Amino acid sequence: MLDSYRKAISAGWSDQRFVELVEGLNSEVAEIAGHGFSITPLTRQPRLGASLGLEASLWVKDDTGNVGGSHKARHLFGTMLHLAVDENSSGSLAIASCGNAALAAAVVAKAARRPIQVFVPTWADRSITAALKELDAKVVTSKRTDSTVGDPTVEGMQRAVQKGATPFSVQGPFTPTALDGGRTIGWELAEQLALARVEGSVALFVQVGGGALAASAWQGLNDGIREQWLSADPVLNTVQTESSAPLNRAWRLLRETSEDRLEQAENARSNPTKFMWAWENVGSSKASGILDDVTYDWLPVVEAMLASGGRPHVIPESLVESGHRLAVDETQIAADHTGTAGLAALLDPTIAEDYSDSDHIVVFFTGRQREAT
Ligand SMILES: Cc1ncc(COP(=O)(O)O)c(C=O)c1O
Repeated sequence: MLDSYRKAISAGWSDQRFVELVEGLNSEVAEIAGHGFSITPLTRQPRLGASLGLEASLWVKDDTGNVGGSHKARHLFGTMLHLAVDENSSGSLAIASCGNAALAAAVVAKAARRPIQVFVPTWADRSITAALKELDAKVVTSKRTDSTVGDPTVEGMQRAVQKGATPFSVQGPFTPTALDGGRTIGWELAEQLALARVEGSVALFVQVGGGALAASAWQGLNDGIREQWLSADPVLNTVQTESSAPLNRAWRLLRETSEDRLEQAENARSNPTKFMWAWENVGSSKASGILDDVTYDWLPVVEAMLASGGRPHVIPESLVESGHRLAVDETQIAADHTGTAGLAALLDPTIAEDYSDSDHIVVFFTGRQREAT
């Protein structure tokens, strides 16, 4: 179901050649990361649900054990398949990231024997920059100055791309193919929910930084429903922190343009810069992976929320921290604060009240807790 597969077949590849590409690259990834890709666990979490006062069934999809310790390698492996099918792609790759995406990119780049430049902020964790160098990535530190609005690491990546590097990012506007592989988390979820005989209302609460996770997980889940693996009514809710909440701002402004959801979606598409721009004063948060100042993939995310009846949630730092504590204590999954931020929104009791015992709520634990240095 990957777009890269369809592209390969229409370029004259055989099915077997594509399968060999995937398997070959995956075994290189396994050599480097200790393991390759596999379906990650989805578990029902009645204790955690009860601690949150939920009557609905709560499900956690745990991607903390995925390649590189997060879901990000799903996006990047998918993009690497596109680059391999294109055949004319060579030279250096470039990505802007402070953590999980950078590590995943470095693993996949090394597996494909491609050089990579990683643009990181000055505050990037030393253990991550050291791990990147171990993986042979070229680490470039980009400084935020008082006069710049927007992410200096993204500007660094764009400059490298102007000089000929290939964008290898986890954001649709820079690397549209990133959303292709990202759908695998939604495909797995659709299959796993069906195997667990889940039907009816399934509400996702997804932590949003650049938005590619929410956009592609949503697409994947809906692919599974379209393919009739699963019969469910999905609803997309998103979660950002007070430190950077451009998606919620866009949502608020859009809602002012019309009473009608279809018209709101149309307004977003026809005039995107009126609704989405860089958050001026990005604060700090333990959920540092979702501090993007722009929700790059906001359009498909907003359209999904409008179409499904979901909405964005903005949580204070106190919930980021208590949600993380509760998540780790109740599930024993060693997720980081970014990875549990979707769940943290459910600590707001007014959300729990909206769901009854016939409903299902799904959260993604996306990032593994790393040792601090
Ligand atoms: C662990 C983790 N979860 C979720 C996200 C959010 O994903 P996206 O930026 O695609 O919204 C990130 C992004 O860095 C992350 O590192």
